[in-house]
Amino acid sequence: MPTAPMPQFPAGFRWGVSTSAYQIEGAVDAGGRGPSIWDTFAHSPGRVVDGSTGDVACDHYHRHREDVALLAGMGVDAYRFSIAWPRVQPDGAGPVRAEGLDFYDRLVDDLLAHGIDPVATLYHWDLPQPLEDAGGWLARDTAHRFAAYADLVAARLGDRVRLWITLNEPFIHMSLGYGMGVHAPGRMLLFDAFPAAHHQLLGHGLAVAALRARTTSPVAIANNYSPVRVFGDTDADRAAGAAYEALHNRLFTDPLLGRGYPDGTVTDPSLVHDGDLATIAAPIDVLGVNYYNPTGVRAPEDGSPLPFDLVPLDGYPRTAFDWPVAPDGLHELLGWLHRSYGDGLPPIEITESGCAYDDAPGPDARVHDPDRIAYLDGHLRAVRAALDDGVDVRGYFVWSLLDNWEWAEGFTKRFGLVHVDYASQARTPKSSYAWLRDVIAATRRGSAR
Ligand code: FCB
Repeated sequence: MPTAPMPQFPAGFRWGVSTSAYQIEGAVDAGGRGPSIWDTFAHSPGRVVDGSTGDVACDHYHRHREDVALLAGMGVDAYRFSIAWPRVQPDGAGPVRAEGLDFYDRLVDDLLAHGIDPVATLYHWDLPQPLEDAGGWLARDTAHRFAAYADLVAARLGDRVRLWITLNEPFIHMSLGYGMGVHAPGRMLLFDAFPAAHHQLLGHGLAVAALRARTTSPVAIANNYSPVRVFGDTDADRAAGAAYEALHNRLFTDPLLGRGYPDGTVTDPSLVHDGDLATIAAPIDVLGVNYYNPTGVRAPEDGSPLPFDLVPLDGYPRTAFDWPVAPDGLHELLGWLHRSYGDGLPPIEITESGCAYDDAPGPDARVHDPDRIAYLDGHLRAVRAALDDGVDVRGYFVWSLLDNWEWAEGFTKRFGLVHVDYASQARTPKSSYAWLRDVIAATRRGSAR
């Protein structure tokens, strides 16, 4: 257990936790919600390790008041949740389902009543299935559909959401969903997945404009980043590192910040129409950074379809996902963003950071998760170190409030500050929940001085 007191964070530093709709809501048929690509994928045999689906998940749709009370008990400033597009617009086009928006309306009001900033992600991977049937993110029209949906949501919630996030991790959605086929929609296009990158970015840019027309709240995107560690010192190894860097860290950041696409990433220039890059580069107020771990890379074997090989990183403790626990990677990443983008870099909020462990209630019925506490302690110190280096980091959101349905891993990975017994839906705050509550209270007292 960490013993050194947590260093102070600046006044106004935003403490939060994150979730996403399909991972927690359940109630997949309530209020006329339509199917998303994740409903389809999860119900396809062999796609999810334990054969589970998000049909019930954490039943948050029915238990949201209890979950907001848990947020309030922790003392967080903000809650990042996502809005399920198929709840609001089951066909991905056309009329809005009032019941769908009513749910988020109640959630937002309840958060505000508890003094918690609602931070809404418009798209956390749950594309309405009818849009996938029309080509999904490979189709340019999906970008326009997304902006129209953003407009509908902002018309209802734009007066109360405090920070808008357009997309969650377009890189992971493109690479795992369209490149490797291990996430919905399960396509295996490798580098031919580039249209899913461009159309997500275009959708983001169009949605920024739609949001600006409806709200004065700040607008962000949440990108996944992974600092690259190159193994080997040949030119081929360095080229592999640069190729991975371009794909994971720059493909969704260079165009956003007005630099166009990194060399070698645009597989089909005809997709990028005149004006698209300007639309994508619409100024954002905050860059959301989701960080889990660094990536080791070296030159590929002969005949590999990819321009790099991935190398496991030794020498770190590992989570139940077998991801290395590397807070030094977060410090390194924040420095890399600061150096690479300079004055063009907006203020950063860490919109996801967290870990999975096999947490279970002990004989005392409590859930002790010292590894998660050590994880969060290390990562918060990494943020503090980046602040000391001059990086403008304004907030930190833990992934996640609740144990939840972890995509292709089903219910086998527990990321929550709160344990969920999926049979009874009982919520039990873990020791990390109390630890974070105390850190927030102590730093707030300190920074108020
Ligand atoms: C991120 C996702 C989030 C969750 C965490 C563990 O890539 O945005 O939904 O799955 O990983």
